[in-house]
Amino acid sequence: MKSFLVLVIGFLICGAVSAQNHPDWVKSAVFYQIYPSSFQDSNGDGIGDLKGIMSRLDYIQSIGINTIWLNPVFKSAFKDGGYDVIDFYQVDQRFGTNTELIQLAEEVHKRGMHIVLDLVAGHSSNESPWFKQSMLADKNLQYSDYYIWAPNKPNDLSEQEASRWVEANAPRAKYFIKNFYDIQPALNYGYANPNPNHPWEQSVDAPGPRAVRRELQNIITFWLEKGIDGFRVDLAASLVKNDPDKKATIALWKELNGWFDQKFPQGVLIAEWFNPKQSIEAGFDIDFLRPGKLTSAYERGKKTDAKVYFTKAGEGDIVDWKQYFTDQYSNTINKGYLSLPTGNHDSPRIASEGREDAAQLKVLLTFLLTQPGVPFIYYGDEIGMKYIQNSPDVEGSKNRSGTRTPMQWDGSENAGFSTAQKANLYIPLDPDANRPNVAKQESDPNSQLNYVRNLLKLRSTTEALGNDGDWTFLSDEKQAYPMVYMRQKGNGKYVIAINPTDKAVEAKIKTLQANHVNNIYGTSKNGTYKIGKELDTIKLPAVSAVIFKVE
Ligand code: GLC
Ligand code: CA
Repeated sequence: MKSFLVLVIGFLICGAVSAQNHPDWVKSAVFYQIYPSSFQDSNGDGIGDLKGIMSRLDYIQSIGINTIWLNPVFKSAFKDGGYDVIDFYQVDQRFGTNTELIQLAEEVHKRGMHIVLDLVAGHSSNESPWFKQSMLADKNLQYSDYYIWAPNKPNDLSEQEASRWVEANAPRAKYFIKNFYDIQPALNYGYANPNPNHPWEQSVDAPGPRAVRRELQNIITFWLEKGIDGFRVDLAASLVKNDPDKKATIALWKELNGWFDQKFPQGVLIAEWFNPKQSIEAGFDIDFLRPGKLTSAYERGKKTDAKVYFTKAGEGDIVDWKQYFTDQYSNTINKGYLSLPTGNHDSPRIASEGREDAAQLKVLLTFLLTQPGVPFIYYGDEIGMKYIQNSPDVEGSKNRSGTRTPMQWDGSENAGFSTAQKANLYIPLDPDANRPNVAKQESDPNSQLNYVRNLLKLRSTTEALGNDGDWTFLSDEKQAYPMVYMRQKGNGKYVIAINPTDKAVEAKIKTLQANHVNNIYGTSKNGTYKIGKELDTIKLPAVSAVIFKVE
């Protein structure tokens, strides 16, 4: 009995260790997210492309970034900005060719950088040949069971479930199940607990779902063997249907991630799950956190009366954030990485909601880029590109177009994005005559761009501030401003203090019993740290953020 227990415990410990299976390069990875249609147009058609991205690699590297994530570049009907894939094995001609994507990966690798793509695992376009075949009356074709078809719609469905049923009136059946928009039929990964009265609910191990999982492995293999370093997995939590506790979806990903780690030990898989506790358990390397009311009063596109933390008004609170972050952090530490991105293609940019000037953005970026886990910078956030209200709905973007406007490179007509006629740009540029651009900020040592560069340089040369440095919250969360936390690794110890408000603030924390504490970087030389007997005192001027080195 005793030796059995020892065995079981030994097995559990080994399991925990193998869950930390990340390639070394992730430990110092800093990502740059590129929305390919909006980054750099190389052929004057008004839409960004792979050659354009290739021409900007030196710039990207100069920021201190070493990994690129591209939103989908596959053949698409573009009714959801590329998230409606027609052919997962082919680059869409608007972006270039498969060969150009391979060349891009080679150019990236030459610089010692990495590149990941977007894997839309949960659905395809309704224009995909797989879906078209599955619509046919014959149910025994290769792709027949790649989707979920049902003859009738039961009336006991929950509202949420019912919203996924799309009436197609195909020869095959009347309804299919979608994932997001109606043009995005869900791929069939089966149901967690198939209801015997619902014959369309197949088990996860039925032949259809098994074939879909193999297809996913084929897509991953196809691109990784061509030199791609991994994927960000779109809606990763959505695969198995009727799986409220996500047990079956976690099990599915555990198996896939296990396979992936064996086959591609240098590859990464990043979940778009927004729940690292679950996704890291499922074997992913990285998952995102939602900043919530830290930066935005909007929830699913609707304004709430939440008081935002990062505003000059200083009416926000930090209690919920601290609790959420501590919970996610403590449950994933040493297993996988959290990421609190500067933004993404689905949400308003950080430069919005009254937070448009560089001073405020530098404070927020100091916070974001001194977090543990893997930093993700959304293109243009390094120069303070704004969320543009009332941008036209383009390719299913709805109000997300305001966050997908063309990259602002210089002061020329189309900001250096494209030589096309203004009217032919993918999405109109920020109309502000003083819109920020890279060229202007390159030459200004105090620009936001150079601030970010210095911050990333400090991060990359300071283990404690890096992806694996420990994090501890130091200030009293009931006194929201300033927020004070510590990053630590080995002998390295750094205290970061953040004050978005337009007033000077002060915090008292339990003394760290240091010998010296120096203000080494930040937005202000006037932030001070005074060592006391029982309490240390930190003072920050209005709208400032400071990194203190503790010795
Ligand atoms: C993800 C993507 C989003 C897309 C949706 C459907 O949330 O980030 O842009 O519309 O999935 O694929
Ligand atoms: Ca182009």
